[in-house]
Amino acid sequence: MKTQKFRIRGGKRLKGTVKISGAKNAALPLMAASILTEGINNLSNIPRLKDIHTMMALLENLGARSEFEGDRISIDTTNLKSFEAPYELVRTMRASVLVLGPLVARYGRARVSLPGGCAIGARPINLHLMGLQKMGARIRLEGGYIVAEARRLKGTKIYFDIPTVTGTENIMMAATLARGTTVIENAAREPEVVDLAEALIKMGARIEGAGQSIITVHGVDELKGLQHSVIPDRIETATFITACAITAGEITIENAIPEHIDAVVVKLQEAGVRIKRQGNMLKVRGPDRPRPTNVKTMPYPGFPTDMQAQFMALMTIASGTSVITETIFENRFMHVAELRRFGAEITIEGSTATVKGIKRLKGAPVMATDLRASASLVIAALAAEGESIIDRIYHIDRGYESIELKLKALGADIQRFKD
Ligand code: EPZ
Repeated sequence: MKTQKFRIRGGKRLKGTVKISGAKNAALPLMAASILTEGINNLSNIPRLKDIHTMMALLENLGARSEFEGDRISIDTTNLKSFEAPYELVRTMRASVLVLGPLVARYGRARVSLPGGCAIGARPINLHLMGLQKMGARIRLEGGYIVAEARRLKGTKIYFDIPTVTGTENIMMAATLARGTTVIENAAREPEVVDLAEALIKMGARIEGAGQSIITVHGVDELKGLQHSVIPDRIETATFITACAITAGEITIENAIPEHIDAVVVKLQEAGVRIKRQGNMLKVRGPDRPRPTNVKTMPYPGFPTDMQAQFMALMTIASGTSVITETIFENRFMHVAELRRFGAEITIEGSTATVKGIKRLKGAPVMATDLRASASLVIAALAAEGESIIDRIYHIDRGYESIELKLKALGADIQRFKD
């Protein structure tokens, strides 16, 4: 298959202003939440990304009708006639599992393909299934599909061994239409979970504690249509700050919510990046050379795993050695081998990478392996001397809207081309 590539000539200091798009990981659960109502649902500030189109295809496969104009999506779920999320869609996007909870809550039935593995780890959904089972769903595995059935879900107490983000979102959505009260303990606290809860409350759901470790949901009989504008993408924001930092640039970021990336801002400031907040704008100035800084990924509000690869790219040119520990996924160091091709000096011991900063990276041909790894390679290429070619950039298109146009507007020398 002819893959598109990026050609980047490094060494340009980024300058100018960039506007952050809506958050993919808030939009996807919100689109799934439209299943909980019969009627029209309107979402705005939606990024134009492949995963959004995949979720639209999934909802249309259930019988919904949807339109995507500009940054607005309208989804009509008046008469859903299927309860199935087919393998060919689910395997291209794990977040498809987010239709499971809403389908069981609304129709008492769902047949969703198991997502299968993914590059960064096994990523099972056992906690999603445990939660639904505790709420009374009968669940069986049939030919690679999860079949879940329940006359009506019952509220109960659910404890998550791991604060799973989509697991919390799935159970929170299912609980909105259950009979009685559901308490989710050790819930994920990500801003995307809070954004979903706020939208569900506007639909008539009764939810307390979203953003904390204990979420309480009092079931209601029905919800009305969804009207919501999605929060800006905190990972895109942190990615652009890091791209500015590695080029010793000076940029303004618009449409950001700085408190959503407190942990990343603290670590970037430790590395010498000047970050000033002005309302929903950020003024960023990169240092001539970043200082070495240690990072350990943790569930929110800790340092996000989705920024681990990008931060590592910055540390490859730091004035000393940094230790980066990944605690969320078991295989999220695939960008290391590619960063080494730029001359980076990185050794891995289990879930810990030791990065010995060097003065300059050298341009090289590299290959993207997953969404955030590809962002890390773009960041490295922006600072590397000479020309770099990044292959398989369809990975980056899953999570960053028109990234090369935004970077070009900041003065980067980047082209997208087909071999
Ligand atoms: C969400 O994935 C995000 N995706 C991921 O972003 C993000 O990396 C991840 O949260 C962690 O922050 C969306 O929101 C669509 P988890 P999710 O369930 O919900 C284990 C990106 O780059 N686990 O919080 O799938 C799991 O294996 C993507 O945009 C179980 O063991 O992540 C992992 O080790 C990549 N059993 C850990 O928990 C379960 O039932 C955290 O996973 C569920 C999860």
